[in-house]
Amino acid sequence: MDTEAAWSLRPEQPGDEAGIEAVLQRAFGGANAANLVRILRTQGGYDPALSFVAIEEAPAPRIIGHVLFSPIAIVHGDAPSPAMALGPLGVMPDRQRTGVGTALVEHGLACCRERGLGIVLVLGDPGYYSRFGFGPAAEARIEAPHPGWAESYQVLELLAGSLKETRGIARYPAPWDDA
Ligand SMILES: CC(C)(COP(=O)(O)OP(=O)(O)OC[C@H]1O[C@@H](n2cnc3c(N)ncnc32)[C@H](O)[C@@H]1OP(=O)(O)O)[C@@H](O)C(=O)NCCC(=O)NCCS
Repeated sequence: MDTEAAWSLRPEQPGDEAGIEAVLQRAFGGANAANLVRILRTQGGYDPALSFVAIEEAPAPRIIGHVLFSPIAIVHGDAPSPAMALGPLGVMPDRQRTGVGTALVEHGLACCRERGLGIVLVLGDPGYYSRFGFGPAAEARIEAPHPGWAESYQVLELLAGSLKETRGIARYPAPWDDA
C-alpha cells in the first residue's frame, strides 16, 4: 500500500549503526556486508561523512538504504595512489527499484568529488553501475585485488586526469577479504 513513502538522504550519524546493519542484512540476505561495515567503522580511515543513509520518516523513522565510500590504495611498485571503494550498497527489499540506490550512489559520488577524491572503484554488476559512468577497471590499468573480482571490477574517474598517471593493483583493508 505505502509504496510512495517520502525519504531523504543524509550522512551516517551516531545511533544509525543498527539500522544500517538491518538494511545490509536484508538486502544481501546474510551478515557479511553488515559485518564489513561494522569492522571498518572501528578502523582508521572510516569517515561517517562518506557513509550515507536513506531515511523514510513515516510511519516511523526507518533506514531504508545505505552506501559506504571508504579509502583503499592502488599500488604500483612503492607508490600507492589513493582511491575510494564504493560499497557495500544496499536497499531494503521492499524499497528496491524505487530510486533509492541511484540517489545514494549519485549523492555519494558528488560528495567524493567535492572532497577532491578522483577515483572510485566498485565490485558489482556492470549493468547497474555503468549508469553512473563506471567502466572496466582493467581498461584503466587497475587490477582487481582478487582474480575472481576481475569481470565485475569497475572504476569511475570523478576528477578529470585522476586516472592518467594511476595504474597498479587495488589493495583493500583486510576486513574486505571476508565480505
Ligand atoms: C542493487 C541495489 C542497491 C539497487 O538499488 P535500488 O534502489 O533497488 O535501485 P534503483 O531503484 O536506484 O535503480 C533501479 C534500476 O536499477 C536496476 N537494477 C537494480 N538492481 C540491479 C542489478 N543487480 N543489476 C542490474 N540492474 C539492477 C533496475 O532494473 C532499475 O533499472 P531501470 O532504472 O532501468 O528501471 C538494490 O537492489 C539492492 O540492495 N540489492 C541487493 C544488494 C546488492 O546487490 N547490492 C549491490 C552490490 S554491488
